[in-house]
Amino acid sequence: MPTEPADRDWAGRLARVESRNVTDVRHAPPFWTEARGPRVRDAAGKVYLDFTGAFGVALAGHRHPLVEARLRSQAGRLLHGMGDIHPPAVKVEFLEALAAILPWPESRIIPGLSGSDAVEAALKTAQLATGRPGIVAFAGSYHGLTLGALATTHRDHFRTPFSERLADQVRFVPFPAPPSGAIGVLGTVTRLLDGASPVPVGAVIVEPIQGRAGVRIPPPGFLAELAGIVAERGALLIADEIFTGMGRTGTNFACDQEGVTPDLVCLGKALGGGMPLSACCGPVEVMNAWPSSTGEAIHTSTFLGNPMSCAAGLGFLEALAGDDLAGRARRLGAEALSFLSEALNGCDRVAAVRGRGLMLGVEMRDASGPDVTRRALERGLIVLPAGERGEVVELTPPAILTRDELRAGLEILVAAIR
Ligand SMILES: Cc1ncc(COP(=O)(O)O)c(C=O)c1O
Repeated sequence: MPTEPADRDWAGRLARVESRNVTDVRHAPPFWTEARGPRVRDAAGKVYLDFTGAFGVALAGHRHPLVEARLRSQAGRLLHGMGDIHPPAVKVEFLEALAAILPWPESRIIPGLSGSDAVEAALKTAQLATGRPGIVAFAGSYHGLTLGALATTHRDHFRTPFSERLADQVRFVPFPAPPSGAIGVLGTVTRLLDGASPVPVGAVIVEPIQGRAGVRIPPPGFLAELAGIVAERGALLIADEIFTGMGRTGTNFACDQEGVTPDLVCLGKALGGGMPLSACCGPVEVMNAWPSSTGEAIHTSTFLGNPMSCAAGLGFLEALAGDDLAGRARRLGAEALSFLSEALNGCDRVAAVRGRGLMLGVEMRDASGPDVTRRALERGLIVLPAGERGEVVELTPPAILTRDELRAGLEILVAAIR
């Protein structure tokens, strides 16, 4: 067999320059060079259907025309501004457009670049608003890997190497995923808020549906009851909608479907239409726990409100409304769920098929998510394993898929599972 020319050995070249903890190069992953809509092309020219939406980001598809147009126009004018000192005008336009779809009459937003940024900002906001440093988070949670956010992320895999650095003010309670109910969990949260925690609890942080834990959906009513318990005790409910938000689960925010208006919402992933962009959002009454800036902002960063990211965010928000991404996610998701349930019915290896909107999971009995993922990749479909043991195959495809593309991808998945 002819050997690959050295300059095509992307995995080998990467391994020689990137710290080894970052990319798993053992199976020579595809190196992406191009993407449009739901399709990705790799450096070898192979084309894939992307049913991860690249970590849930490409809800509007890769390079949505509205995002691309905004970026091209912005790139000809201003790439970088001075976020909190001489703010780019496009930051104002983006924040206004985002505020217009938030659930509070008057919202305030702290922009960021990553989901972790938004979580850090929310945790700081809760400290300022309540003066209580304790946090309640849920088993299985994933809120990011920067040190503040990591303290609220549950999985030992991420925590253990840094455990001595993690804030000791977080208490984890079980996440109520059926068949277990929510009553015991709500009792434990109540006790922690009522003083059972050694540090007074100022906030509860929750993913309305746990994504990376394997698309775990709590029982109906859980979020609303949790919100009630938290509100009665003067604490804040932080909804981490970084994965579930911006239409992914069939409505702009997953909390909408539970009739819950949280005190703070963290957004990221899809928000930037493919550019790094996130937001910690809340009503003005909560966000005014922050003092007015008098020049030296106490929470900011060099790239805050980056013009390119804000321009892309504007393009994404136009696509969200114009293409009815939430409605499409709802309809395509329902179709995917019924197709998979039928096609995998009676398959011994499959323990459950579940999802809401275009956030779907196939739970395998045998932790074979990574194997299925590899087989699907060979057949031209990109999916990811999720769950603590990789027991779930997670699907978060773009909402701009046609029904034929949806069907084509699901058929590959079913073949890879069977
Ligand atoms: C629910 C949730 N919160 C926070 C994060 C962290 O976001 P980021 O990786 O952009 O820092 C993620 C990432 O997967 C997530 O799924």
